[in-house]
Amino acid sequence: MEHVKVAEMVAALSYALDLTEGQPMGHSARVCILGMRLAAEIGMAVADRAELYYALLIKDAGCSSNASRLFHIVAGDENRAKRDVKTTDWTRVGFESMQYAVNHVGVGRPFLERVATLARAAVKRKTDSTELVKIRCERGANIARRMGFNERVSAGIHSLDEQWDGAGYPEHLEGEAIPLYSRIALLCQTLEVFWREAGETRAVEVVRERAGRWFDPALVRAVESLAARGALWEGLESSSLLADVWALEPVETSLFLTEARVDEICGAFAEVVDAKSPFTFRHSNGVAEAAVRIAETLGMTSDEVTLLRRAGLLHDIGKLSVPNSILEKPGKLDAEEWAVVKQHPYYSWQILRKVPRFGRLSEVAACHHERLDGRGYFRSYDETKLDLPSRVLAVADVYDALAARRPYREALPLETVLGIMRKDAGQALDGACVEALATAMSGSASLGNLVMGVGQSVAVECEASKVY
Ligand SMILES: [Fe+2]
Ligand SMILES: [Fe+2]
Repeated sequence: MEHVKVAEMVAALSYALDLTEGQPMGHSARVCILGMRLAAEIGMAVADRAELYYALLIKDAGCSSNASRLFHIVAGDENRAKRDVKTTDWTRVGFESMQYAVNHVGVGRPFLERVATLARAAVKRKTDSTELVKIRCERGANIARRMGFNERVSAGIHSLDEQWDGAGYPEHLEGEAIPLYSRIALLCQTLEVFWREAGETRAVEVVRERAGRWFDPALVRAVESLAARGALWEGLESSSLLADVWALEPVETSLFLTEARVDEICGAFAEVVDAKSPFTFRHSNGVAEAAVRIAETLGMTSDEVTLLRRAGLLHDIGKLSVPNSILEKPGKLDAEEWAVVKQHPYYSWQILRKVPRFGRLSEVAACHHERLDGRGYFRSYDETKLDLPSRVLAVADVYDALAARRPYREALPLETVLGIMRKDAGQALDGACVEALATAMSGSASLGNLVMGVGQSVAVECEASKVY
């Protein structure tokens, strides 16, 4: 990873955070561009701009953890709900907020149930908002620390939802007591969302209307002056958006990746993914550990072991695109819901291939639901196209889905898990990888008499485990 900047990896992975927030990919990147322009306009010092840069890119790192909670509150598609929260002025309770509630609460549920949920949501809205934002703030700040960023960066993320007049969350900070990075991030995320939904003029109007309530008036004046000179919106639709963002990190303070930093960032994003749903608690770490043990047992090179550990941590990053209403649906998924689930390795591939030097890793991660018989997803690759690391990762993924404890059931015993997996060896899963797993997990190669005939096929058992 020599000569690759931290910025290149973090900016690329910020596309995954956009999925979590229900924003189209590129939202965080555009917010970063707007924020850096604003920082230059107010004459921010280089060292501060370097910190602001990362605070803007990972501002939504805590969001996946409230996806599950938000789903239970609005009982619907929480990604759509979250996107619209940013365009709705919650401080003016009235038509706009009601419209939001009607559009999102319990969509698709029977009418009476929907009315009941709506009423409950209205009564509980204040407490729920506080609780949700608190989880998101603390989580986001912790993830920033895990990625190796300092307290000022994590404080910028922690106070993202505070408002200038003290009506924000979670601590009701007021005015300049709110960290400057947070004030800039809130302003720029609002600008970006309205720019996309309603155009440049309306975006500036909205922040002007909310100056002194949501936003720092001095920052709003800086936005108006940039907009008046035609220097605010330029290049936001560029086809080289990511490269443009990479170029914005102040050169004087550029951070470069070390192998250890790559691992830290992978671990932090694994946490974002696993926090999305209680069903996947620690799944990414579990897959990474199992993949490493299989790879070592097979005698793979240390480079391949490293590749597999990171691919394990990041393989389900595209799952941030799947609403919790699907991930946590009690009972079976319908065809439409399955189609959404089956997109997640595609999104993993799309995001991971944006990271420099992750070309091979993105291919391996993209294949984690492929099967040797060609009946997997999303590409329906068969054994002729699945290399050894892809086969190892697929086995590790199934193993963790079956072997880990779930909210509603204890972990299956190792013998049962291996019994189920051996039934699918040769058709879905690679037999040598399954045997390497058996060796690695049992500490010996002598698990020959496993319980056979217990459980269903791997596909059925994984679906029952709600780990997709
Ligand atoms: Fe997985
Ligand atoms: Fe998956």
